[in-house]
Amino acid sequence: MKAIAIVPGTAGARVVDRAEPAVSTPDDVKIRMIRVGICGTDREELSGGRALAPEGRTELVIGHEMFGQVVSVGAAVTRVAVGDYAVFTVRRGCGACASCAMGRSDMCQTGKYLERGIKGLDGYQAEFVVDQEQYVVRVPPALESVGVLMEPLSIVEKAIDEMLRVQIVRCPEAATTPDWLFGRRCLVAGLGPVGLLGAMVLRLSGADVYGLDVVDVRSARPTWLTGIGGHYVDGRQVPVEQVQQKIGAMDLVLDASGIPALEFNLLDVLAPNGAYVVTGIPGGDRPVQIAGAELIRQLVLDNQVMVGSVNAARGHFQTGADDLEQARSRWGTHLDGLITQRYAPAEFTSSSDPHTPDAIKEVVEWTTMARGA
Ligand code: BGC
Repeated sequence: MKAIAIVPGTAGARVVDRAEPAVSTPDDVKIRMIRVGICGTDREELSGGRALAPEGRTELVIGHEMFGQVVSVGAAVTRVAVGDYAVFTVRRGCGACASCAMGRSDMCQTGKYLERGIKGLDGYQAEFVVDQEQYVVRVPPALESVGVLMEPLSIVEKAIDEMLRVQIVRCPEAATTPDWLFGRRCLVAGLGPVGLLGAMVLRLSGADVYGLDVVDVRSARPTWLTGIGGHYVDGRQVPVEQVQQKIGAMDLVLDASGIPALEFNLLDVLAPNGAYVVTGIPGGDRPVQIAGAELIRQLVLDNQVMVGSVNAARGHFQTGADDLEQARSRWGTHLDGLITQRYAPAEFTSSSDPHTPDAIKEVVEWTTMARGA
């Protein structure tokens, strides 16, 4: 079968031939790939950045945002059946810490976890993949065209869930109000797929959502945001320092920008008792200057929290599927507008960086377009 591989630490990717995996234990699930999303992490891997080949190998099959159809299952599998649409989660536990033992490798304490397509395990940019039932999540048939968004959506489901749990523990009014997010002013920074999906989840809870980016208001990302009832904030016209004064303080800030200077500056917009969750992973190591004393003073005197959040557990994928269904019934095919670019595998590997300013989610198509690739 065909797959897309890189040599970690070097630039570029190529289509390779790999043995087709088979169901070999009662818990195995085999999935035929339909499409796989491409994100900032993939782009970083493709440019020679953060990535690790499986032990003893030089090549890594990339891809961690998968969507496919179950083609065969082991005798003990009950979560999915042949013909179901499904995805596999990304991270695999270290086998040594309590979090991983509890199925929460997203909270691994040793750092020795592996990630399919990123760290030490081949990923999903391949015609077929096999993994264990505990990592599979069924996707309802009505979500065929957007199921590839499940992984980035799982990231924001975890981030928002963590923020809510923290607020429920700290803030008396959050503890007594099941719909604490309703009407709350929230800022999402960085309107890539993660930011827009975050805005979508917050809108589903009735939050008043502002999305910050630095692109033209008529371009794809702001247009998608306003289509779900969010407000666009052009950071070139309203700098972060002025957001609080011009729009108001934010009860929640969700960062998906990956820009370290902005990630610190966003504390400026946070309301007293506010929560700020960072999901954007910056590349590179350029130092940033911050007003440290001022920042810590504000954090303490205003009872604020800043939380980092990465990866997601199976349950977050499940919540993602539920939210996608709700979003589908509320906004219909507007959801499909998040997928803006489609490549056949060979087309993807031969273009050095096809990323265009108007792109939201780029995907590699493994069925229709794969033929002849
Ligand atoms: C992925 C996560 C992963 C993280 C760190 C992100 O792009 O979506 O699943 O844990 O990178 O490798």
